[in-house]
Amino acid sequence: MTKKKIILMASGSGSNVQQIYEYFKNSDAVEIAMIITNKQNAGVIARMEYAKIPILWIPKQYLNSEDFIELLKTADLIVLAGFLLKIPEQMAQVFDKKIINIHPSLLPKYGGKGMYGHFVHEAVIQNKEKESGITIHYVNQHYDEGQIIAQFQCEINDTDTPETLSKKIQNLEHLHFPKTIEMILMGV
Ligand code: GAR
Repeated sequence: MTKKKIILMASGSGSNVQQIYEYFKNSDAVEIAMIITNKQNAGVIARMEYAKIPILWIPKQYLNSEDFIELLKTADLIVLAGFLLKIPEQMAQVFDKKIINIHPSLLPKYGGKGMYGHFVHEAVIQNKEKESGITIHYVNQHYDEGQIIAQFQCEINDTDTPETLSKKIQNLEHLHFPKTIEMILMGV
């Protein structure tokens, strides 16, 4: 059986990339083919060195290049795991239902331009929300607006801060993101 190929894209520390890699590293069905980052000094590069997977740095202006699009076509699924650049419209069209993203809120709340990482958690705490969570969704040409695949919730207490909420969200992401990817790839 040929393995399904995932390309992971990340801009940050790469804790989700690592979870996904660890989840699939002994799989007969799924392979992490490549990690792509747009930031030359992203934490994900040092974090994932041990995995011996090709890591490619792609500057923003090449995101829409033909060569890059061809490279992405070698994957069955492209996974944005903390990838913070907007996916160009043409790319979103070519890869309709082939790119997924994880977002640290219950979309459509707290999504859109500028809403990422700690900015999300700060806004959620400031608005005294009683719950937050994560959204895994297909990517289209608009920030955080593609079709939702799965959402997972957590409660927020009076004592929570953006930092404690961030930890709760990270736990949810690490628990559910790899399994959801597996579910998508297996078509169930
Ligand atoms: C994750 O919390 C992810 O949901 C968020 O970036 C973090 C990356 O963490 N993504 C967004 O905010 C996208 N709008 P990681 O580098 O430790 O995996």
